[in-house]
Amino acid sequence: MIIVSNWKAYVDDPGRARKLFALAKRLAAKTKIAIVLAPPAPLLALLTTKNRSTVAFAAQDISAGAGGAYTGEVTAQMYASQGARYAIVGHSERRSMGDTNAVVAEKMQRAVARGLTPILCVGERERDESARYLTFIREELVSALAPLSQKERAAVVVAYEPVWAIGKTAAGAAGVVDIQEMILFIRKVLSEITPGKASARIPVLYGGSVEPANARDIASGSGADGFLVGHASVDPESFSALVRSSI
Ligand code: PGA
Repeated sequence: MIIVSNWKAYVDDPGRARKLFALAKRLAAKTKIAIVLAPPAPLLALLTTKNRSTVAFAAQDISAGAGGAYTGEVTAQMYASQGARYAIVGHSERRSMGDTNAVVAEKMQRAVARGLTPILCVGERERDESARYLTFIREELVSALAPLSQKERAAVVVAYEPVWAIGKTAAGAAGVVDIQEMILFIRKVLSEITPGKASARIPVLYGGSVEPANARDIASGSGADGFLVGHASVDPESFSALVRSSI
């Protein structure tokens, strides 16, 4: 079980960041769940310095470029040198700000080239009756993984995050059966493009309004290998309850 805690732009002060990190360390030690924190970039080094715990860190996004005259960009290399081990790539909030599948594919390559494990987010904006959303998800997966070698593909993490389920309450999350079906579909596509046994080991997470109220059902009934959690991960009480009920 992996829980990725996506702080988005919710956490802006070092004191709060330190408290959430301390909580994550306690929860990781107690539950043996792999916790990955994705803080805003300026707070990363503050937390990774002298980190001896099992809690790992992720970039919320990385630049599609390798550096240079790109004001405001933060590259995979910068994140790696500040202690990140993962990079969220293709989050719907970045896609809605202009990341196309081609940009996502570039970012996947940048992450891998700098030793960051990509957490590739895929998810449909809406569900239609003729199941075109399946083709949409397939395209997101195939285009992001195409530039990677077989070995690199086998080392990614995938997060299924239906856009319509993000930022709601537990009642607005995808249903357990829908998540289960989609995870099977994602696994099928992964096995097609990463032949052999390796694809079965790719963690497939669910994200979109995971809260203490639905974490247990989704964890036990959907086949997800973990969660990508937004708003509930920045509230200490919710995060603690959520992690404890995901065991
Ligand atoms: P949410 O966000 O848990 O607030 O729905 C999840 C995400 O966007 O990663």
